[in-house]
Amino acid sequence: MTKRNLTPFDHFLMQADTALRVLAGKPTQSSRPSPERNHTGVELDADQKRHAAGLMRVNHSGEICAQALYQGQALTAKLATTRTAMEQAAKEEIDHLAWCEQRLKTLNSQPSLLNPLWYAMSFGLGAGAGLLNDRLSLGFVAATEEQVCQHLESHLQDLPKEDQKSRAVVEEMLVDEAKHATSALQAGGWPFPAPLKKMMSLLASAMTKSSYKL
Ligand SMILES: [Fe+2]
Ligand SMILES: [Fe+2]
Repeated sequence: MTKRNLTPFDHFLMQADTALRVLAGKPTQSSRPSPERNHTGVELDADQKRHAAGLMRVNHSGEICAQALYQGQALTAKLATTRTAMEQAAKEEIDHLAWCEQRLKTLNSQPSLLNPLWYAMSFGLGAGAGLLNDRLSLGFVAATEEQVCQHLESHLQDLPKEDQKSRAVVEEMLVDEAKHATSALQAGGWPFPAPLKKMMSLLASAMTKSSYKL
């Protein structure tokens, strides 16, 4: 097959296709099986199920944001090395999205209705940072992944002890997200100053509170 250069319109169509697939829950074939498979299910009571579903919905929204962030970054990154550095992370994020979706289903719940909004915001931030500077963009990824780690750690405190399946998913995601933060910094990302991280965490907190319920 002959290769041709993709036009900006081709890129736009590819991004739109990915966004629709992610938001419709279509692309999420994980390359690794969900960590929940290693745990036998314990019957949770109604309150435990509702709470676990709320937390897993927050995690699922976080993974929607990760897809958008990496898509936006891929669109605007200037250096091929920047894209390559993030490719492995992007693949692992697809696993996370699939695992969270699967867990939400088995908890008889569904993803957040606000996901299109989170996707658009994260895509804009990722693409905007990439347009300005690759190192800024990678720094943004690192700071975001650090915050995701903090959220996942708090969820491990908060999830019902009996819900070994959700806990296994969150534990595995935590290992990956910490790796993503490190590799974004190693790829040349600027470490963000504390006040900027604080602002990001306020935004993340608005997202987690609303996705827990909606
Ligand atoms: Fe993730
Ligand atoms: Fe990540």
